[in-house]
Amino acid sequence: MVCLGNICRSPLAHGLLHFKSKKITVDSAGTANYHIGKSPDQRSIDIAKKYNFDISKQVARQFTSKDFTLFDKIYAMDTDNYSKIISLAKNQNEIDKVDLILNEISPGKYQSIPDPYYGGKKGFEDIFDLLEKSCNQIIKKYENR
Ligand code: 4NP
Repeated sequence: MVCLGNICRSPLAHGLLHFKSKKITVDSAGTANYHIGKSPDQRSIDIAKKYNFDISKQVARQFTSKDFTLFDKIYAMDTDNYSKIISLAKNQNEIDKVDLILNEISPGKYQSIPDPYYGGKKGFEDIFDLLEKSCNQIIKKYENR
């Protein structure tokens, strides 16, 4: 799960998939280096807590080209980060691993999870809903493979 800072959107996607799926190994990262080593944004921690899971122990890290070998599937939260990830890919196999997370519920539309960082709490409720629907779809698609 990859966003810009790895403190708002991708930690929620990471936590949602981790706590909903017993079989899928999940991690998250940011394309930027601003927040390396930090805990998730308090607003993401709070919304996760409201829905009964704990993301407070996650630690932000930056996406690296090694992630293409470590993971089968790489979900970008928005189109800017999708492009950034693709720019780091070395071959078509790596490019093929990358998708926008919202393509799971709106196939082929390349829609973005809005960046909630500069907004209020409502933004976090909205992205939680989109991420939960997307993660449910990911589980349906991959958990029994
Ligand atoms: P995220 O949100 O990419 O969902 O973690 C952001 C976090 C930090 C910043 C932007 C977006 N920032 O500009 O510091």
